[in-house]
Amino acid sequence: MLLRALTLGLITLSAASAQALDMSAADIVASRCGVCHGTNGQATAPIYPSLAGQNAQYITKQLTDFVAGRRVNETMSPQAQDLSPQNIAELAAFFSAKPPRVGRAANAESVALGKFLYTQGNASANMPACASCHGDSAHGTALLPRLAGQNARYLTGQLQDFTLRQRTNDNAVMHDIAAKLTPADIKAVTDYLTQLP
Ligand code: HEC
Ligand code: HEC
Repeated sequence: MLLRALTLGLITLSAASAQALDMSAADIVASRCGVCHGTNGQATAPIYPSLAGQNAQYITKQLTDFVAGRRVNETMSPQAQDLSPQNIAELAAFFSAKPPRVGRAANAESVALGKFLYTQGNASANMPACASCHGDSAHGTALLPRLAGQNARYLTGQLQDFTLRQRTNDNAVMHDIAAKLTPADIKAVTDYLTQLP
């Protein structure tokens, strides 16, 4: 009986995921994305990225990459699978319009080092300043992610994944940069970024 109910459930689920979700972005967020990313785009745990205020084109690219398998994550990939291009565009507009969270506290000493690395780079390691791409205030551009105010734990995980080539959708640019960061650099730069408005 239970097995039969489970099998039927699975069939319904896979039939549903074969087509686009006929739901508004707000409903998709309320019933799904919000569990991890928060219904206002403020992540519910530090391992998840906040999406509030993130650039819409960047969000669109990431979701399209998850659907296509160019970016892979065991938690996030299944969440994107049944999203149509229209769902993606609406979700990107929804999250980018939310005000980002500001003013997290972080260790003052590492913030100072992080600011130096972010704005000046590291000439001896031949590492360009992060600001040259992500912008002086770390708000990003259309296709470059906003980093200001993001969870330090999420940022640390992404920098490690770029280094190990486990984040696969921008091997060329971010792999080279992340590979030049020491663990202390990563701590400093992510402490700096998380407290930025
Ligand atoms: C069960 C938790 C969970 C749910 C539900 C979830 N996500 Fe995610 N999401 C994650 C995790 C974990 C990551 C980070 C993946 C990685 O490390 O590559 C992520 C990453 C993302 C990113 C990339 C952010 C960035 O800064 O690069 C976007 C965009 C995103 N999710 C959108 C969504 C949308 C839209 C939904 C709802 C349809 C959703 N997520 C549902 C856990 C979740
Ligand atoms: C030459 C340009 C360039 C420079 C310099 C650069 N980045 Fe990036 N970064 C990118 C691009 C492009 C992406 C988006 C990759 C994608 O589309 O998936 C990115 C993505 C990221 C992400 C993922 C954000 C998210 O929401 O998942 C982090 C974290 C990051 N960069 C941190 C840094 C740090 C820290 C530095 C300096 C040490 C730096 N970047 C320097 C181009 C750059």
